[in-house]
Amino acid sequence: MSAAAIGTAEPAVPYYAPTGDECALFEQAFRHRLPLLLKGPTGCGKTRFVAHMAARLGRPLFTVACHDDLTAADLTGRYLLQGGDTVWTDGPLTRAVRGGGICYLDEVVEARKDVTVVLHPLTDDRRVLPLERTGELLHAPPEFMLVVSYNPGYQNVLKGLKPSTRQRFLALDFGFPPPEAEATIVAAESGLPRDRCVPLVRLAGALRELKGQDLEEGVSTRLLVYCATLIAAGMKPERAIRAAMVEPLTDEPEVRQALLRVAEITLG
Ligand SMILES: Nc1ncnc2c1ncn2[C@@H]1O[C@H](COP(=O)(O)OP(=O)(O)OP(=O)(O)O)[C@@H](O)[C@H]1O
Ligand SMILES: [Mg+2]
Repeated sequence: MSAAAIGTAEPAVPYYAPTGDECALFEQAFRHRLPLLLKGPTGCGKTRFVAHMAARLGRPLFTVACHDDLTAADLTGRYLLQGGDTVWTDGPLTRAVRGGGICYLDEVVEARKDVTVVLHPLTDDRRVLPLERTGELLHAPPEFMLVVSYNPGYQNVLKGLKPSTRQRFLALDFGFPPPEAEATIVAAESGLPRDRCVPLVRLAGALRELKGQDLEEGVSTRLLVYCATLIAAGMKPERAIRAAMVEPLTDEPEVRQALLRVAEITLG
């Protein structure tokens, strides 16, 4: 019987195509117990990168999508009522600290200020998590790592990270992959032959040029994958492009027309 059949196989490592030295940098950060900040536009591969690295390093991953109602207790834990008793329940950050996992806080700038207070003692050389409610002071094991990400494009001036928070992290700037790499990624993710992905990537490049003028954000690698997936399933390219690369970007009829025109010109 094969290892897979008896359930002893290593969990699969999610596919991630590196576009620079980001994997080596992540590994160094992990080995040296340094927290890491990822910044970049939506759909450029940040979440996939973290999932890939966590699996490669064999650490459990605890992902939290931050929002403006997220409190420190949502991360650390709280007393919950269980059959008449109140029982302490660890939050994802506490579970990652106790178990030596990787905690990934997505869109960290959205989190409330009390969340950053919890992160500070964990992200300097103390590496501790005080749990006021239980009176515990947890020391993070060497395998614990904190990764945060945000999209500088949507950054709210009132909400930006304070220097005292930012300067606790190593930082990696994510952009969209270069065209050659992006075509390979889109083909791998969608199953559409690579030569049919190349023109879609070229179109994405042209649409990204319009960012700032008419568009808040350029078309993401994620949307390119959607588009190629529809085409691979038999949809006409024009229809797939409209649904995946034009409509999601704008609600303005004129801008939509301009994007469709760019598509016509680019794809010929
Ligand atoms: N380098 C890459 N290797 C493999 N797949 C990639 C890569 N970059 C992007 N992708 C594809 O793009 C999709 C979106 O990536 P992901 O969800 O990681 O984006 P993100 O940067 O976390 O976006 P958001 O800021 O919106 O959360 C992935 O599901 C994957 O299909
Ligand atoms: Mg993400």
